[in-house]
Amino acid sequence: MADGSSKPNVLICGGVNTYSRALAAFLVPLEGEPLVSHLRIVDKYSVAPATTYLGAEFPKVLAKPEVDYKQANLTVPSIVQSIFNPPEGKGPYDYVFDLTGEVRHDRTEMILINTTCNVARMLGQEAAKRKVKAYVRVTLPFYETTSKGTHDEKDDPKPDGTIGTWWHETLRMLAAIEDLNLVILRVGFVYGPYVEFGDITSAITVGSVYGYLKKPMKSVWSPGKNPTNTLHVEDLAGAAWASATWMASLGRKEADSLAGESIIFHNEKSKVSQVEGMPPHDSKLVAPLFNLVDDSNSTLLSVGQTVTSFFGTTFDFFNLGERTLYKFMDDAVEDINEHHVGGWTQMIQNSNPPIPNTPLSAYMDKYALEKHIVALSNTKIKEVIGYKLKRPQFNHDGIKDIVDKWKEEGNWPIL
Ligand SMILES: *[C@@H]1O[C@H](CO)[C@@H](O)[C@H](O)[C@H]1NC(C)=O
Ligand SMILES: *[C@@H]1O[C@H](CO)[C@@H](O)[C@H](O)[C@H]1NC(C)=O
Repeated sequence: MADGSSKPNVLICGGVNTYSRALAAFLVPLEGEPLVSHLRIVDKYSVAPATTYLGAEFPKVLAKPEVDYKQANLTVPSIVQSIFNPPEGKGPYDYVFDLTGEVRHDRTEMILINTTCNVARMLGQEAAKRKVKAYVRVTLPFYETTSKGTHDEKDDPKPDGTIGTWWHETLRMLAAIEDLNLVILRVGFVYGPYVEFGDITSAITVGSVYGYLKKPMKSVWSPGKNPTNTLHVEDLAGAAWASATWMASLGRKEADSLAGESIIFHNEKSKVSQVEGMPPHDSKLVAPLFNLVDDSNSTLLSVGQTVTSFFGTTFDFFNLGERTLYKFMDDAVEDINEHHVGGWTQMIQNSNPPIPNTPLSAYMDKYALEKHIVALSNTKIKEVIGYKLKRPQFNHDGIKDIVDKWKEEGNWPIL
């Protein structure tokens, strides 16, 4: 905005492997007016040639005159500082969207600290130094919420495993940066066009295999509520933008008073002295925090039923005997995958036109097969920020849109 235009300059960090591409397409749409004056996206991937899946849309976004892509290693402090220097003739960055963080579940604590906590902490510190007007951190559903309770932002869900512990610790580190105009969005299970990452994408791919094989898709978990609240990636983008404009008009202090929540310690006390930048366990840390999920109240069962009915089959549960057999997860992973990986391969081989290569896989890893309970209320973001969901329901229309786009770009079998 410093360059005289009324539109902000925006920096997106990380997330090219998850949701940054959709956010970029929202900020600089292929058709219509961009919301930003200038957009820079920074991540470790190369985009030309692509070293990760980009989808058919993103390269067109990158070709827009407003958009600049930088391949950079954000674990290096001097690089973090340099990416905040805008291109010549552009004013400083007004908004930063932080979608950094390691999303793989098989990473060690050390890697998580280096690539999740440290990266975000350095970005947050630099953003505060540069007086960025809004810093929106997207945190993924690496939590185990309870099935009971209000599920609002006052609930204290338990970080799930090592990955959850350090993603949560990242929020404490960011909250501790006093002058950072921070908003935290705690999202549900995100799905949408060109999103090849995540459990819902897996469910769609695997569901199609069972439809193809004309067999019911079965869950290892007993029928129960098992909430797995969902979010369309367009709403992640829309709400991230709404949060940034909300914060920019308020500043951190005012935003804390309107929407601040305690970010509670969920780590080992001994780590505080070992991990650089980790706030003491008894620090009272407060930051504006919003849950972000759709209105579907999605559960394992509802997602399973929506997906399988789309592909013309049904969703079912293993019986008690079968479930007992699968008590030992590691064996179960290979066993269960055998059933559908072969089916997906058949589908790919029978596709006309042929599919030489697809980023989609019917392989479900241990995490995808484990039970996850993520129930979040979305009332607060609607009331405080006034955000209106564009895709409130997880339904057949949403799945059709995703599958059609994968077909169009040659990543989904046409049979
Ligand atoms: C990023 O920088 C760190 C620290 O210098 C280094 O250990 C790591 O290998 C680099 N990563 C890449 C992908 O170059
Ligand atoms: C993490 O960062 C520390 C400090 O820069 C370095 O010594 C260590 O090798 C890194 N470890 C990994 C697994 O990246």
